Amino acid sequence: MRSIRNIVILTGAGISAESGIDTFRSGADGGPSLWEQHRVEDVATPEAFRRDPELVQRFYDMRRAAIQTKQPNAAHNALARLDAEWGGELLIVTQNVDDLHERAGARRVLHMHGEHLNAWCTACDTRSRWTQPLVDRPPCPRCGERSLRPDVVWFGEMPYRMDEIYSALRAADLFVSIGASGAVYPAAGLVREARELGIATLELNLERSQGSAWFDETQLGPASELVPAWVEQMLARSVS
Ligand code: APR
Repeated sequence: MRSIRNIVILTGAGISAESGIDTFRSGADGGPSLWEQHRVEDVATPEAFRRDPELVQRFYDMRRAAIQTKQPNAAHNALARLDAEWGGELLIVTQNVDDLHERAGARRVLHMHGEHLNAWCTACDTRSRWTQPLVDRPPCPRCGERSLRPDVVWFGEMPYRMDEIYSALRAADLFVSIGASGAVYPAAGLVREARELGIATLELNLERSQGSAWFDETQLGPASELVPAWVEQMLARSVS
């Protein structure tokens, strides 16, 4: 196996499940999933926002409030440690819109599906840090228009910074997917891209995902156990 210097890590809702944040396709602790409680078409599409902005804003206001009560878990902490100590290139590409990677201390994080704690003004196209509700249509701090929406990528919209992700992948020696179901593209296609590039691929997930067959290796279990063990192993063989 070629030596590993550059790593791209994809994280999905599974890494935050043990922090008590519902995943999309099965809830934290086996409870109902986020999408079982709400139809995707009602809350996570541009059409839904045009049809019923208040419902959509309320849904994201709830989520924004909820994540601020959650804490990073051992898996986020382990990745933050890897980020701090790994001498090669490293990029944590997350599908998650929570800020638990950052709160654990990770710096090299890219939010391909946006961030709950940002509001996007569609009038002046600026993003502002936002921790409060949006349902009452507060003015944009930049331009004053009442055109703020959650800065999350909805179904039918283009994920952010794909060029950077593909370019990190082209320079990578290892692609690792953690807590992602492999159900939503383009994130789900990254493993195939990695394979075509001849990069080693590893999956750490609670159960076999839709993309498991594409990985060189799959380890099954909770992220809070698998990720710290994997990080320990990587740092033991670390590049100088
Ligand atoms: N440890 C590891 N994996 C876990 C854990 C855990 N404790 N709990 C759940 N998982 C796994 C599940 O088995 C599942 O394969 O995490 C995965 C979570 O899958 P999804 O809920 O589909 O989340 P994700 O892959 O991030 O969803 C992708 O879908 O709805 C959109 O935009 C949304 O970013 C999201 C995207």
